[in-house]
Parts: sequence; structure tokens; C-alpha cells
Amino acid sequence: MQSSQKLALALTLVLIWCLAHSLVESRRWRKSVQLNLHRETNHTKILSSFHNQKLRLKEKLSPTSTDVAISSISVSQTSVAKDNLFNSHNTEYYVTAGFGTPKSQPVTLLVDTASANLLVYSSDLVKQFCLHHNGYSSSESQTYQANGSPFQIQFASQDVLTGILSTDTFTLGDLVIKNQTFAEINSVPRVLCKRSNFDGVIGLGSSEIAVNGVKTPLDNILEQGLIDEPIFSLYVNRNASDASNGGVLLLGGSDPTLYRGCLTYVPVSKVGFWQITVGQVEIGSKKLCSNCQAIFDVGTSLIIVPCPALKIINKKLGIKETDRKDGAYIIDCNKVPRLPKIVFNIGWKDFTLNPSDYILNYSGTCVSGFSSLSDCNGAQTNDDGEDLNNIWVFGDVFFGAVFTLFDFGLKLVGIAPKV
Ligand SMILES: *[C@@H]1O[C@H](CO)[C@@H](O)[C@H](O)[C@H]1NC(C)=O
Ligand SMILES: *[C@@H]1O[C@H](CO)[C@@H](O)[C@H](O)[C@H]1NC(C)=O
Ligand SMILES: *[C@@H]1O[C@H](CO)[C@@H](O)[C@H](O)[C@H]1NC(C)=O
Ligand SMILES: *[C@@H]1O[C@H](CO)[C@@H](O)[C@H](O)[C@H]1NC(C)=O
Repeated sequence: MQSSQKLALALTLVLIWCLAHSLVESRRWRKSVQLNLHRETNHTKILSSFHNQKLRLKEKLSPTSTDVAISSISVSQTSVAKDNLFNSHNTEYYVTAGFGTPKSQPVTLLVDTASANLLVYSSDLVKQFCLHHNGYSSSESQTYQANGSPFQIQFASQDVLTGILSTDTFTLGDLVIKNQTFAEINSVPRVLCKRSNFDGVIGLGSSEIAVNGVKTPLDNILEQGLIDEPIFSLYVNRNASDASNGGVLLLGGSDPTLYRGCLTYVPVSKVGFWQITVGQVEIGSKKLCSNCQAIFDVGTSLIIVPCPALKIINKKLGIKETDRKDGAYIIDCNKVPRLPKIVFNIGWKDFTLNPSDYILNYSGTCVSGFSSLSDCNGAQTNDDGEDLNNIWVFGDVFFGAVFTLFDFGLKLVGIAPKV
């Protein structure tokens, strides 16, 4: 065979395998559930809150949110953990859920892939400070089981959220999850309550990073046989003229009609966070990094980039440091059609972000989808001396271009271009 024929045959085989695989995939996941995502659509709020982003990210990347949380399980019931409740307006994707029986008390939960606990405001807290929120009232539930272990979350701003652990029935879409332990938040700085649009958080990270060692909602859903496979997938919608549709969160399944071609699977490089090794990233044939570490975080709006790479990106986009406003870079909308593509090589496959994917347009104000953790003055290291600037965070800008599957059994992430 000539090499071109060989190539054609190889491609055909890949295509057949892929089609067969998709069919098998969709049949294999008999028990799965689809949840609709909602999102923040108030552009004023989103724009004005970018400056909170770096605060939050620092928290997430700090070792206290993982290592300390894990090591504290056996030491003390009160583990100080850090989470992302602080920032609400640029963490845009929510699901509706419910707590308790016989009446399920409805709440809106922020979807977060970089934490692994379930948190909800208590009804007492809501009555005191958070009037426009929903809260959970254990006295109105017949399935409430007291636990009472203290739970605490601290933010970089020194804001502290405290609460207790409780156990009750948790309803997510059609799924009724029994004996789910969660943090009932009963103290929160007033301003946090005002700023947030959600009543709690559902962490879809894996159990290794669960604070107090609480069994994660995903693990309970799987153990109680509500889904067949230890996977979930995310399809986020970013079409501004389709504001009510935030996309879907699929628990226990995937949906081959939402992506093109095959899923490319890559192993998780740091268990807990959905962190992987990215082959390389290129902008207009200039390499930004190779074998870089990236965390998939649907709780982050932008793509967070190490400083050296951000400098190159901004130069290619014609952005100056003075264009930085509240942690994001403003760019002239007229430049957008001439901007280069950015190519991510993941699992030996290229995923391309076009300017329309990585430039956000808020009614005529264009914002680059790339930013950094800090303003790039001086190196940022965490307590372990790990250089935080080496980590990329794939936020919603990245999720806008790809369909993502998370396998918490095999510890793999699968991605494919969205339809
Ligand atoms: C959007 O957010 C801004 C700033 O928080 C607020 O002033 C405005 O009323 C909001 N608009 C809507 C339609 O909710
Ligand atoms: C939930 O907890 C109760 C009381 O501890 C127990 O009887 C029941 O079997 C548990 N149900 C599940 C599904 O784990
Ligand atoms: C965005 O949503 C609108 C309204 O549903 C639809 O007409 C339009 O085709 C969508 N645009 C894209 C690029 O999908
Ligand atoms: C940005 O949005 C404005 C108004 O919504 C629109 O007129 C303009 O064409 C958009 N520009 C780009 C580059 O998408």
C-alpha cells in the first residue's frame, strides 16, 4: 500500500472505531440524568467582578484547600478549608437542586469542578442576612439526620464562613440521593451574601479533596445506583442571544450529539482537581508552553495563564498592561476579526480557540479571555514553594469551545470540540 492509502485506511478505521464507540457509549449509559444549567446574564455584574477572580483562584491553588483538608480529617473535625463562595458573578453556571423530604426545599447551586463538597445556606442565615436567597431548614424535613460537626471555610479576604455538617435527602434533577452529608452554612459575612447569586455550591471534584472527608455527592449518586458509570459531562452554552440556556450537566453519561468526532482522553495528573498535562499551547505558531499543567474549572470565567505566556498572548493580541481593568484585559472590538487562533494540543490532538471563542463581548466592550493570577509583578509561589504561575486554569472560556467528560473512576478527562 502507498502511504497515502495507509493513511486513508487508518483514518477510516479511526472513524469506524469512533462511531462504534459513540454508539456503545450512548447505550452503555442507561442510567444517567441530564440537568439544565443556568447562568449569570447581567453583564454589568460580570464585568465589575473580574477583580475577584484572582482572589478566588489563589484560594483554589493554595495547598490548604487540598493537602491540609485531607490531612486534617484524622486530626480534627474542624478543618479550615478554602472554597470559592466568595466570587459569584463570574462563576456563572448553576443548577437547581433541593434538600429534605417530603417537600424538597429548592436551592440554586453553583457548579464547581475544583472543589468536592456540597454547601448550602441555612434558613436561619437567610432570614438574618440573605433575604433574596433560599436556605435549608432541617426542622422542615423528615429525613434530616443531625451530625453537627463544625465546618469552616476561610477566604483570602479573611472572610470566614462557618457551619455544621448535616445529613439529609438531596435532590438533583430526577435523582433522589439519600443520606447526603453537606455543610449547612450558618454564618457568612453580610457582603458575601449580597454579592452571590446562589444558595450553595456543588463541588464535582473527586473525593481526595473533600473537606472533612465527607462523601461527595458524586460518590453517593454512584453508590446508591442512581447512575451506572462514574462519569459526568459538561456542555456549557455561551451564546449571548440565548441567555436562559446555560447548557447541560450530564451525570452518569455523555451525549455524542453534543460533540464532533471522538473524545480524546487524558489521564488526570493531580488527583482531586481535574488537572491534566497539556502537550503544548501555541498562538500563531509561537509556542506558549509544553507539558503544561492545567486545571479544568467551570467555576472560573476566563483562562488563567502563567505570566510569561500571558505576555506573549497579549503582545500578539495588541494588548498593553495598561489595558488591564479589574483583572481582565479590554481589547478594541474592531481588532477581533484579525486576531490569531490559539491551539491547545491535548492528548496529541489539537483543540483550537478562535477569536470568537476567546473574546468576550459585553454589549460592545470586548474583553480578552486570557488573564493571569496576579498582575505579573514578581513570582507567585504558594507555601510549598510551588510556582503557581506554571498552572493554567481552563475556565468557562475554554469550556465554551469543548464538550468535556470527567471520569472519576478511571481518573480521566475526555474532551472533544462542541457541535
Ligand atoms: C445588573 O447588575 C448591576 C450591578 O450590580 C445592577 O445595578 C443592575 O440593576 C443589574 N441589572 C439587572 C437587570 O439585574
Ligand atoms: C440512610 O441512613 C439510614 C439511617 O442511618 C439507614 O437506615 C439507611 O439504610 C441509609 N440509606 C442509604 C441509601 O444509605
Ligand atoms: C444563538 O442563539 C440564538 C437564539 O436561540 C440562535 O438564533 C442563534 O443561531 C445562536 N447562535 C449560535 C452561533 O449558535
Ligand atoms: C460586539 O457587540 C456589539 C454590540 O452588542 C456588536 O455591535 C459588535 O459587532 C460586536 N463585536 C464583535 C467583534 O463581536
